[in-house]
Amino acid sequence: MQTVYMSAATEQEEEKSSLAAAKIIRSGGLCALPTETVYGLGANALDAAAVAKIFAAKGRPQDNPLIVHVNGMKMAESLAAHVPDIAYKLSEAFWPGPLTLIMKKNAVIPDEVSCGLDTVGIRMPDNSLFLKTITNAGVPIAAPSANTSGKPSPTSAKHVADDLDGKIDAVIDGGSCRVGIESTVLNVAGNIPVILRPGAVTIEDIRKYAPDAYVSESVLRDAREGEKTPSPGMKYKHYSPNADIVLVDGDRSAFVRFAAAAEPNAAIVCSEEEAAELCRPCFIMGSEGDYTAQAARLFAILRKIDDEGFTKAYIRAPQKDGVGLALYNRLIRAAAFNIITPD
Ligand code: TXA
Ligand code: MG
Repeated sequence: MQTVYMSAATEQEEEKSSLAAAKIIRSGGLCALPTETVYGLGANALDAAAVAKIFAAKGRPQDNPLIVHVNGMKMAESLAAHVPDIAYKLSEAFWPGPLTLIMKKNAVIPDEVSCGLDTVGIRMPDNSLFLKTITNAGVPIAAPSANTSGKPSPTSAKHVADDLDGKIDAVIDGGSCRVGIESTVLNVAGNIPVILRPGAVTIEDIRKYAPDAYVSESVLRDAREGEKTPSPGMKYKHYSPNADIVLVDGDRSAFVRFAAAAEPNAAIVCSEEEAAELCRPCFIMGSEGDYTAQAARLFAILRKIDDEGFTKAYIRAPQKDGVGLALYNRLIRAAAFNIITPD
């Protein structure tokens, strides 16, 4: 299939592209769209056959459910069997934005979206093109990250094209994604809210509204193949470039000593401050401890490591609080849980 590329750089282009995207989605096709987190591969969430095409294009495991994107709480109410009070509070605080709420689903959600679960993940993205497309299509849009399954998520239209050209109907180019890592996934279907995937909306943010909310231990753990996990996506190999990634756990001076002595043909991924102390080229994530800035660059750097032919990369492990937890969660999976502590 020939993939069509459209731009959304100006207001007029955004208007035109959102109408074209809505048309593709209404007719059962696949269109990649920017969100504030990563690019999504969108299809009509109420059309089982269209949703099945997403799994084929990505090579996605059949038991990994999709997030459904809405243009507001009213559309979310039409998809959920029950919207708990806490979901109203959190959506008011964080929508549009990088927070997915898992709720009990109702019958309009096809099994192809929920993969046999009785819940559905719903979020309102903070991107005007995406929201216009939902409104123009008049249906909710199911959209996983628009990458080949297992690869780093796409934060630019070029990343989408590198993985999915020829496999999907269209890509709308809305520039680089502001947040750069996928949404926080929070299960509010049970008694106590639980984070299944950390993101830019942090546990600290959520506890202001739900003081007893907690982070699932699966977030920092290697879920074994076949194990039943609360979030099916967590058990798969994820975010991995072809290069071997090694996480290095230590303070700045330990990391700098380690990186200075590491194989010259390995990539070093670190902060500006660390790079300034190293006499070798580095991929710079951002300022030390500025995990919001680092998150915005993470996936582009993981792809660049491969593009530039590196077969190994050492990356300084982030702290596990605030947005650092989300970075840590992505990085330990990119590294297949290979983490070392230099002396
Ligand atoms: O920021 C994002 O969330 C992006 C953009 C495109 O919106 N989407 C995204 O989708 O990251 P995806 O499919 O790559 O990741 C969805 C994650 C998976 O780990 C999946 O297992 C989990 O959410 N998930 C979806 N529905 C679920 C459910 N009903 N119960 C538990 N986990 C669910
Ligand atoms: Mg994904």
